[in-house]
Amino acid sequence: MSKTEFNPRQAALEFDSETPESIIKLALENFDNIAISFSGAEDVVLIDMATRINPDVDVFSLDTGRLHAETYQFIENVREHYNLDIDILFPDSESVQELVRNKGLYSFYKDGHQECCSIRKVIPLRRKLLSLDAWITGQRKDQSPGTRNTVPVVENDSAFSTADKKLIKFNPLSNWSSARVWEYIRNNNVPYNPLHEKGYISIGCEPCTRPVLPNQHEREGRWWWEEATKKECGLHAGNLDK
Ligand code: ADX
Ligand code: SF4
Repeated sequence: MSKTEFNPRQAALEFDSETPESIIKLALENFDNIAISFSGAEDVVLIDMATRINPDVDVFSLDTGRLHAETYQFIENVREHYNLDIDILFPDSESVQELVRNKGLYSFYKDGHQECCSIRKVIPLRRKLLSLDAWITGQRKDQSPGTRNTVPVVENDSAFSTADKKLIKFNPLSNWSSARVWEYIRNNNVPYNPLHEKGYISIGCEPCTRPVLPNQHEREGRWWWEEATKKECGLHAGNLDK
């Protein structure tokens, strides 16, 4: 449970110009049952900042079964670097088997990524979030102009709250640019995915991610065969309603 009655709207107003470190501190001070959702470069910045406050901060990652080999090595590297237990979440094997049996291994190229993302990412995430009072993500406003422009530093998670339980979502890097994130990574020797050295910026699953060319937006490397307005996999479904 939250230690005190926490008002996300009020906190979002008060902390909008605060540093990510202050927002993480606010999150950890107000919630014991909270975890960082980790997959990309931004999330290791969050882990780096959070472990300075609580070295045993909870971290989880969704293993879709379709990640690059480099991403698995990166997750392991982060685990060792910060001496952290990372809770790796897997999709329901029956559901994956049924999808692959009926539609093959690359159905998303034909009928869109939503069904596969739902089975491999969103349902496992929902299960995890049911056990938490709050989560921390690495979303940034300029990551996806079409869907993340208004991401606040803290919000009521309308997509994953239930009738019985309110879930709070912290996005401490919301106002940071990619350049700022990478400046922090370099200055603090934060581990990063080696794929970034090969032209990848935003990294998801292997079949749905590709490197981008100079000056292409990072999101163009994700689900490139789909319209920009559909480029959310459901982890941040609340963004689409705004
Ligand atoms: S996605 O919705 O398009 O896949 P994106 O890659 O931009 O998300 O990442 C935004 C934030 O979502 C990350 O900073 C992280 O907090 C969370 N996230 C994305 N993918 C995962 C994953 N596989 N496991 C855990 N958290 C994730
Ligand atoms: Fe499936 Fe691609 Fe979504 Fe990964 S990103 S869960 S492979 S559709």
